[in-house]
Amino acid sequence: AYARKVAVLGAGGIGQPLSLLLKNEGKLVSKLALFDIVNTPGVAADLSHIATPVDVKGYKGTEELDAALQGAEVVVIPAGVPRKPGMTRDDLFKTNAGIVKNLAEACAKNCPKAHFLIISNPVNSTVPIFAEVLKKHGVYNPKHLFGVTTLDVVRASTFVGQVKKANPESIKVHVVGGHSGPTIVPLLSQTGLTFTDEERAALTYRIQYGGDEVVKAKDGTGSATLSMAVAGARFAVSLLKALEGEKGIVEPTFVESPVLKAQGVDFFATKVELGKDGVEKIHPIGALSKYEEELLEKCVPELKANIKKGLDFVKSA
Ligand code: APR
Repeated sequence: AYARKVAVLGAGGIGQPLSLLLKNEGKLVSKLALFDIVNTPGVAADLSHIATPVDVKGYKGTEELDAALQGAEVVVIPAGVPRKPGMTRDDLFKTNAGIVKNLAEACAKNCPKAHFLIISNPVNSTVPIFAEVLKKHGVYNPKHLFGVTTLDVVRASTFVGQVKKANPESIKVHVVGGHSGPTIVPLLSQTGLTFTDEERAALTYRIQYGGDEVVKAKDGTGSATLSMAVAGARFAVSLLKALEGEKGIVEPTFVESPVLKAQGVDFFATKVELGKDGVEKIHPIGALSKYEEELLEKCVPELKANIKKGLDFVKSA
C-alpha cells in the first residue's frame, strides 16, 4: 500500500549499523539509499543480500547525491566527523556545520517535503543550520525537522536501571533541553522513583556526559556508534509508524518548539507526539524539582549560544 524510501547520508560508524537495522524493517521501508563519499557500494552490496523486501542501493560521491535523495520521504543524517584527539569542539563544529549545510542544500533541492533526522553533531547547532538552509530555499517545514536526542533517554533508562537494579526497558526518563553536556536536562523527578541526593547528582552527570565514557573507552578513535545507531533507528521507526497512521507515538526530540520561545530558545527537546505529518503535539516540560529548575537555568544560555552559532554559520556563509 505504500513505498517509503529512506535515505541515510553518511555510512560510517553510525550510518552502517543504522542501515542494518532499517534493512530489517521491511514493513515500513521499501527502499534504502545509502550515501557517502566513501564505502557505500560495498556496504550496500553486503546489506542487499539480507533477505528482506527492502531494496538497498549505494550512492557514492557528490555527483550521486541527487539520485540518493530523489523520492526520499525520510532522510537520516549521521554524516560528519566524530571528535578525535587534538580536535577542538570548534574544529568539529566547522567541519560538520559545512557538511550539514551542503547536505541541507541538496535536500532542499531534491526532497524538500521529506522528514529530516539530524544526528551529525553538535545537534544543538546542526538542526538550526538545517532549518536556516531550508528557510533560505523557502521549503522549511518545522514539523519535518528533528534533532535525534533518543540516545539521551536510552542512556538514562540504562543508567537508572543499573542504580535501581531494574530492567532498563521498564524505565522511562523524560530528558529535555539539548544534546550536549549541560544542555541535557534529565527529569528524574518525573520517573516516580526516589533517589538520594548522591544518586540524583551522579545519575544526572552520567546522563549528561555519558558520551564521554565511550570516547574515553575508544581511546580517542571515535564516539558512540552502536548505541547511537539503535537510538537513531528507534526514532526513525517511530516516525515511520506515525507516518503510516499509527496513533499515540511519543518520542523525545529536538525540534523548533514553543516551550521556551519566550526565553529566546527556538529549538528545544521535550517529548513529542508524532503523526502523519511529523510533529503532531509538542509536550511541555512538566513539573520540575528545585534541582531540575537549576539544571534548566544552566541549560538555557548554553543552548541559546549553540543555536545562535548554527544560525550565524549559515548567515555568514
Ligand atoms: N557527505 C556524506 N557523508 C560524509 C560527508 C559528506 N559530505 N563527509 C563525511 N561523510 C561520512 C564519512 O565518510 C564517514 O563515512 O560520514 C561518515 C561518518 O562516519 P564516522 O567517521 O564513522 O563517524 P560516526 O561515528 O558515524 O559519527 C558521525 O554523528 O554522532 C555524530 O558526533 C558524531 O558528528 C558525528 C557523526
